[in-house]
Amino acid sequence: MTIAIEVHLDGDAAAKMARDVREGLCAYPKEVAPKYFYDERGSLLFERITELPEYYPTRAEREILTTRSAAIHAAAGCPETLVELGSGSAAKTRHLLSAMRDCGSLDTYVPVDISEEITERTASELVDEYPGLKVHGMVCDFEQHLERVPHGSGTRMIAFLGGTIGNLYPRERHAFLERIRALLGPGDHLLLGTDLIKDKARLEAAYDDDAGVTAEFNKNVLAVLNDQLGADFDLDAFEHVARYDTEAERMDIRLRSRADQDVRVDGLDLEIHFADGEEMRTEISTKFTRERIAAAYDGAGLELRGWFTDAAGDYALSLAAPAG
Ligand code: TRP
Repeated sequence: MTIAIEVHLDGDAAAKMARDVREGLCAYPKEVAPKYFYDERGSLLFERITELPEYYPTRAEREILTTRSAAIHAAAGCPETLVELGSGSAAKTRHLLSAMRDCGSLDTYVPVDISEEITERTASELVDEYPGLKVHGMVCDFEQHLERVPHGSGTRMIAFLGGTIGNLYPRERHAFLERIRALLGPGDHLLLGTDLIKDKARLEAAYDDDAGVTAEFNKNVLAVLNDQLGADFDLDAFEHVARYDTEAERMDIRLRSRADQDVRVDGLDLEIHFADGEEMRTEISTKFTRERIAAAYDGAGLELRGWFTDAAGDYALSLAAPAG
């Protein structure tokens, strides 16, 4: 079969969200996990962020894939299978698939995404665009089901793009890289997208644009909690905060309460208090150097094998393989 898509969605996604949000709102300082940004409106707002003049990471990553896919594929030993974690519409991935086709190694694409609809649409587009391509996808939350991702055939490149690894805390990042390491067989590679450390003003502008799209995106997480958990957050009673933490080398994105206020979350049977000026973290976005990525790989039994940046040096795609 040319297209096969497995679905491993847990029936208890709503229960998991309820648990996560309760824990985050009751913690001090308060925190909401970034995965809850992406309801339909949140996904559209994020699309708009990627087109903002201030938000360079998406363009920089696209530039690397557009200009260096053949070199990346060659450096990875011309694998037959491309696995992509968080594949979405596979817009950027087509550059890699084309490089694989052009050198004659392309056999299987394994898209892994949380959205069944997008994964199916993308799969059928791709088999038309790449004659002979097998698509063996999986619809799941890959943090939970990474070990069940289909193998494909021959050697593989597992791509994790978009800089999403930067949204994990160091401990989570380490655990994630170790799990990837365990999946990699001889000849397999990881291709990882990471934003790089740069001038603080540019970093902060990328997360606080003049048009206010990022602020709207950040506050949308409150609308998600209102919709899905019956909360009564007043979006105007919070403001967007985006600071670069020089020591931790990461953007720290928060919502700050503009008043002393109580918020009721019916779905959790919870009432929570926000002090005037109190901040709730909604995301971290870690920025890297080549040395820091090499060290992160090293700590997880991986070895840096390739390094590709855009011309401005703003963003990197790196290749890694099991050490030894
Ligand atoms: N993963 C993206 C990043 O770290 C998401 C993102 C962009 C984001 N802008 C944001 C998350 C603003 C929260 C707020 O770059």
